Amino acid sequence: TTPLRIALAGLGTVGGGVIRLLDANRELIARRAGREIEVVAVSARDRTKDRGVDLTRFEWVDDTAALARAGNADVVVELVGGSDGPALTLARATLAGGKSFVTANKAMIAHHGLELAQAAEQAGVALKFEAAVAGGVPVIKGLREGAAANAIGRVYGILNGTCNFILSKMEAEGRDFADVLSEAQALGYAEADPTFDIDGVDAAHKLSILASIAFGTRPGFGEVATSGIRQVIAADIAEAAALGYRVRLLGMAEEAASGLFQRVHPHLVPVGHPLAHVTGATNAVVAEGNFVGRLLFQGAGAGDGPTASAVVADLIDIARGEFGPAYAMPAAALVEPHAADAGER
Ligand code: NDP
Ligand code: HSE
Repeated sequence: TTPLRIALAGLGTVGGGVIRLLDANRELIARRAGREIEVVAVSARDRTKDRGVDLTRFEWVDDTAALARAGNADVVVELVGGSDGPALTLARATLAGGKSFVTANKAMIAHHGLELAQAAEQAGVALKFEAAVAGGVPVIKGLREGAAANAIGRVYGILNGTCNFILSKMEAEGRDFADVLSEAQALGYAEADPTFDIDGVDAAHKLSILASIAFGTRPGFGEVATSGIRQVIAADIAEAAALGYRVRLLGMAEEAASGLFQRVHPHLVPVGHPLAHVTGATNAVVAEGNFVGRLLFQGAGAGDGPTASAVVADLIDIARGEFGPAYAMPAAALVEPHAADAGER
């Protein structure tokens, strides 16, 4: 059997992790996928940067957009980031050229996912973005496939590793916000622009993707009411603790009488609730299905290894010929979300 050939854009935290994972688990992955998965071409900004992996075995492509045609690849993996710019140019060119596309880029999927899903369906190829929500936690697969038979009433959880890392460190160690943020950046958890994390935007990107999958609605990032953790101070956390609560940034989407209600903001979570015990860069998502009951998906929500794990899981699906729709159903079947008025809750 021929290998599945990969062109990889972005060699930072996640891109480097993907190469290391494919190297470390090569044989196991080939057995599970039914064929080898082989990187053939790569691209990033700086060709000279030492990335701790041997890149001499791959074709280097200077122009990221040209990866769509490079190295006789079957699939393009985008790990650059940004809702527009080179990531979107590459996504459009790849799908228009009839190749499958895998990404961890929740900003791009939140803004352009529907267009890209339609392009993938027209071309008869796959668009996959498991790593875009909750890092290594297979929550997209869990909802799209595992819970596919259920009507979901509510989906909510901790969707941003950086914020959860900051809040739980502030709680446990009484440390300052800025000090903990730089630690999260050093560990590779934060976005290139960390205001996306701390202002709740990254969690809102992820929530809009999850809501679409859970409710069969067109993704509506603009309808997510969003606030972040910038205003949370150590005293808030201490007062909440004295009253039996922990502060967590939660994303929540639920069907209200008037439509779909989507919001991201800091919540007081009672200490008896499982989400109160989720610390560090861990993510946890609860989904309530009408037959399965309450599902809890939990695990590492950021970082190189966990995120690479989700990217490579998508590649294994493609190697097996499992294309499926990007969302829970074909793009044309997704319905318009009717945003519920916050006042009606
Ligand atoms: P990094 O900043 O570590 O890496 C980005 C890579 O993209 C770098 O190799 C960089 O090149 C390259 N790059 C940046 N801008 C350009 C450009 N204009 N043209 C070509 N290449 C470019 O980011 P991450 O690996 O952390 O994130 C990648 C994606 O994965 C993002 O969409 C992010 O949101 C998502 N993600 C990240 C997670 C994490 O834990 N880090 C978890 C889940 C998703 P160079 O190295 O030469 O500078
Ligand atoms: N910056 C993101 C986070 C990376 O902290 O959750 C994972 O999507």
